[in-house]
Amino acid sequence: MQKKAFPPHTSSQDSLSLSLSFSLSLSLSLCVCVCVCSVNMAQTCHTSAVSVVSRSAPPSSKFFSVKCTPNVEYGIKPSPPETSHLSPIPLNGNSVLLICMKRASQHENDSKLSVRYYGGDKEVLGHAVLHLTALEISLDVDADRDGVVEKNNPNKDSWTWGPNGHGAIVLVNCDSERRYWKKLDAEQKYISKESDLKDMSLMVLRTKGPAKLPKGYKLTMHISQSDAESVRIFRTKSTGADAMSNIFQNYATRDYPLVLSSEVLSQEVPYLGGEAKMKFYVEGLRFPDKDFNGLVSINLSLLEPISKCFPETPIFTDKVMFKVAPWIMTPNTLKPVEVYVCSTKDNYTFLKGMRNLVSNSGYKLKICHEYLNRGDRWMQDELEFGYIDSPHHWFPVVLDSPRDGKLEDFPYEELLGPDFGYVTRVAERKDVSTMDSFGNLEVSPPVTVNGKNYPLGRIIIGVAFPTATKGRNMTKVVQDFLWAQEVQEPIALYSDWLVVGHVDEFMTFVPAPDRKGFRLLLASPDAGFKLFRDLQKDGHGQAKLFDGLEDEEPISVDDIVNDDKFHNQNIYVQGCIDWNRDVLKRELGLEDEDIIDLPILFKLVDDRGVYRAVAYYPDMVNMIVLGKNLGIPKPFGPRVNGRCVLEAEMCSLMEGLGLRCTFIDNFASYHKLLGEVHCGSNVIREPYDFKWWNLEM
Ligand SMILES: *[C@@H]1O[C@H](CO)[C@@H](O)[C@H](O)[C@H]1NC(C)=O
Ligand SMILES: *[C@@H]1O[C@H](CO)[C@@H](O)[C@H](O)[C@H]1NC(C)=O
Ligand SMILES: *[C@@H]1O[C@H](CO)[C@@H](O)[C@H](O)[C@H]1NC(C)=O
Ligand SMILES: *[C@@H]1O[C@H](CO)[C@@H](O)[C@H](O)[C@H]1NC(C)=O
Repeated sequence: MQKKAFPPHTSSQDSLSLSLSFSLSLSLSLCVCVCVCSVNMAQTCHTSAVSVVSRSAPPSSKFFSVKCTPNVEYGIKPSPPETSHLSPIPLNGNSVLLICMKRASQHENDSKLSVRYYGGDKEVLGHAVLHLTALEISLDVDADRDGVVEKNNPNKDSWTWGPNGHGAIVLVNCDSERRYWKKLDAEQKYISKESDLKDMSLMVLRTKGPAKLPKGYKLTMHISQSDAESVRIFRTKSTGADAMSNIFQNYATRDYPLVLSSEVLSQEVPYLGGEAKMKFYVEGLRFPDKDFNGLVSINLSLLEPISKCFPETPIFTDKVMFKVAPWIMTPNTLKPVEVYVCSTKDNYTFLKGMRNLVSNSGYKLKICHEYLNRGDRWMQDELEFGYIDSPHHWFPVVLDSPRDGKLEDFPYEELLGPDFGYVTRVAERKDVSTMDSFGNLEVSPPVTVNGKNYPLGRIIIGVAFPTATKGRNMTKVVQDFLWAQEVQEPIALYSDWLVVGHVDEFMTFVPAPDRKGFRLLLASPDAGFKLFRDLQKDGHGQAKLFDGLEDEEPISVDDIVNDDKFHNQNIYVQGCIDWNRDVLKRELGLEDEDIIDLPILFKLVDDRGVYRAVAYYPDMVNMIVLGKNLGIPKPFGPRVNGRCVLEAEMCSLMEGLGLRCTFIDNFASYHKLLGEVHCGSNVIREPYDFKWWNLEM
């Protein structure tokens, strides 16, 4: 007896998968083809089993007839001429039987179909009987993104963006359920705590059929090698032998056996019998990146035995698709949750200022102490806070910069924990520069640019001038990572003209009640010079910058205004900022009214043979934004009637937007070291209400 199988068959779009397994008992030596059938909920056959009737027929057969039990439906192709129900049908050279079953079987072989063959005189030559067992199989995920795994979503095997899009989502399990002796959960191949399950995506295998699969049939789950680098799959243990065999393993391994991983691409899964659900947990292992678009597929097949010497053949395959959630940054316009700063023993003035600002604003201040920061005060530069989101769960995730100063251990040792994730990109030491500090990584509030919406804003980084043959750039591994997240399409600005080279030295965003909901603040030497000239005109030429500061030579307004060399340096800096202003206007869809110029002067210094800029007095744009409260570097500007004119100007520009200015003395502790308040702080913010999968891409 020969047997032939059709290629594996996947459920069609609107159909519930119903698999048929056949067993045959034939009175003649016949060739019968075995197939799969799919039926939808309305119990109408969509795709059916196919049987080559003619090839099964004894020689000299001229007619055939078909009978079946009530659960079975069949059709004949090509359609026979109209005849009465039971009268024999002429046997055509290529007659094919389409078989389908309306319900899953309760018992093996509980349905049957028989074919009777006749000769030219309608004498019976023989008959073939198919013993049929139908199985309902559906591998299910939350393809409609409501946090619940629905039954057999017709779109479960593909992924599309948008509010009408579909496709399941998986998080990178980049937090650590353990607070001590920690390890990223994704780096261990077992589930150590039940609480880890919520970081994974539920996948349910629903089956309906007899108590056991027909002999030799198997369910297997499989995944490609490349997808297995990105996800791992666990399941809940079933009963009996499965549990017993694992009795000596620890509780977690025993209760949640690993099904698929990069080492095991295909594994049999238990068939539970009757109407059953088995839970699987899909764990994301890596973020989208240059070589990975975030999409992974998982297959489940029913395998049919052929013979001892051949591998089993899939007769039915159900497929689901996930996308790994991207890492998302939070702009200044989102509500703060916690503020991080470093404590250093050389100056408590800054810390005191920050403590007052943060507590007056109603947020929590977290201090990274000296033993951890080892003198590295640049809290902004070592890390960037963001989050990952799915319909079932979200948590904050810190992106650790390859900068790796003395704060290097802080993100991993202090921040990583239960529901606080960690991700980094490792670069070669020689490729890492000051451009890789995350003062050089910012994000805009939501914008619309030429009709294109960016409801999560756009990432902003600083790089070398596009035409420069030599220059400092943000390292490729970090740039690749940022671009691959897709949902906050980055903008590259030119920041290499600064000694430190960070975009936060000349720009920031503050919330605004009108227009686009924010203003872009830009450092402006032009506005700075205008302010100093006006002071001179108004007779305040002898007022002094840096007046009363220890270790700092005061300088008069006259001296500043009359210094041509200094003026020329600032004209150059203004040119660099204007270049960025144009890029920002174009890439964020801004008008001049969306931008506020802050009076800030720079000076050029010899940076190992290249002239680059540093802020001349504390760089007020390098501020911390906490709701309506701004923590601004205290500029120590010239005073008129006892009031610092730079502070006064800043306040008048911000007060119109309903923002309150607090000036923080960071002169000795940060400014002298070429940074300011923003460089020395970091803010965890609430995530967006907007869900990234609803983006129209
Ligand atoms: C179902 O039918 C096949 C073919 O006749 C047979 O091998 C098998 O043992 C049957 N199973 C049961 C449970 O009767
Ligand atoms: C999963 O099933 C699809 C469709 O049947 C197939 O194209 C793909 O190769 C399968 N992948 C694996 C890993 O089995
Ligand atoms: C720096 O990065 C930008 C943005 O990705 C890229 O366009 C530019 O070519 C890079 N420049 C150098 C000198 O590597
Ligand atoms: C702390 O900062 C203040 C103001 O900038 C400065 O006068 C003082 O010298 C600093 N103290 C130390 C110990 O650096």
